[in-house]
Formats: sequence, C-alpha cells, structure tokens
Amino acid sequence: MPAASAQRPKAATKKKSATKTATRTPEPPNPWFLVERSAIQGRGAFARQRIPKGTRIIEYLGERITHAEASRRYDDASMRRHHTFLFTVSSRTCIDAARTGNDARFINHSCAPNCEAVQVGTRIFIHARRAIRAGEELSYDYAYEVEDADVDLYVCRCGAPRCRGTILSPSSVPKTKSARAKN
Ligand SMILES: C[S@@+](CC[C@H](N)C(=O)[O-])C[C@H]1O[C@@H](n2cnc3c(N)ncnc32)[C@H](O)[C@@H]1O
Ligand SMILES: [Zn+2]
Repeated sequence: MPAASAQRPKAATKKKSATKTATRTPEPPNPWFLVERSAIQGRGAFARQRIPKGTRIIEYLGERITHAEASRRYDDASMRRHHTFLFTVSSRTCIDAARTGNDARFINHSCAPNCEAVQVGTRIFIHARRAIRAGEELSYDYAYEVEDADVDLYVCRCGAPRCRGTILSPSSVPKTKSARAKN
C-alpha cells in the first residue's frame, strides 16, 4: 500500500532479507503433508504417508482479526477471483493465515473432502474424516458464509463428481444463482 511504503525507512528496504530472517522463525515441516502445486488451485497439501481416519493433522494458525478488519484487507469488489487465507472462528473473529499463518493455509476446498475443520474453543484443527492414501490431496469443505456473495468469484474447481460448483456454503448462494453455480 502506498502509505505504508512511503513510511518505510530506506535503510530497512535495503536490508529487507536480513530483517525478515531475523523476525520470522521457519516452520518445521508438517509430518503428515507437504505443499506442492495443485490441480485444484495454486498450491495444495498432499499426504506424505497414509493418514489414519481421525488424525489431527494441523492447527489453522494466523493473525486473529475482526470481520471488519478482514473486509478492509480483502475487498471482493476489487478481486477477479476470490482468494484469501481467512477462516471464520465466530461472529466476531476470523483467522488471517496470510499473516503469521502456517501450512494449513494451503489446504484447498473440495465438495467431497477427506478432511474436516474441528473447532475446539477458539482454535481450529484440521482432522482426517477418513483414511487418506499417501499422495492424496488434503481438502475440507470451506462452506464460506458470505452475505450477498457474487457467486462468480467463488467458483469451485475441486473436480469431484458431485461438485456443487461453488466454495460458498449452499446457504450463501442466492436462490436465483444456485442453478448457475452448479454448472
Ligand atoms: C486458503 S487458500 C488455499 C491455498 C491456495 N491454493 C493457494 O495456493 O494459495 C484459499 C483459496 O484457494 C482457492 N481455492 C481453494 N480451493 C478451491 C477450489 N476447490 N476451487 C477453486 N479455488 C479454490 C480460492 O481462491 C481460495 O480463496
Ligand atoms: Zn467442488
């Protein structure tokens, strides 16, 4: 953003990589999955080994912010295709994994998911909802709740035989558009 870059001291810009290394601790690799290119979208999470049903694979981490702050950071109107790392925890809070997030942010959505998000208090964990084969892409149902959503921004590319056509929750798809979202 222009305002922030204008405020950034020149010396800090020159020493950019040294500053980053000093402030961010590298995340140890997750024992259950690695991150690679995905046929669904961008990067995805792929099982390194067989994952038994019920395994707690990873916690969804990131900065905890209000929905108002999330709307300030990510404005649907300026996106050609929705892309964020947000996870809603409650009516007040969501997690933005784009900041201080871990590799849970690379798990894509599927309409036939092999994982599920489990909330424990205010924490979110991704669990295996069935046994997952080595090499399989991990996924859970995002079921995004968005008021007055522009369905065209949320098209699903999961490839499941019964893909519902959108990464929105069925209740967030306006009735007049639900037929179109399934195509
Ligand atoms: C938490 S990120 C997942 C990681 C993402 N693939 C990446 O490389 O950054 C969520 C974003 O990925 C994309 N995405 C995830 N699952 C998708 C799907 N089934 N169909 C289309 N886009 C998907 C959407 O843009 C969504 O906002
Ligand atoms: Zn789908």
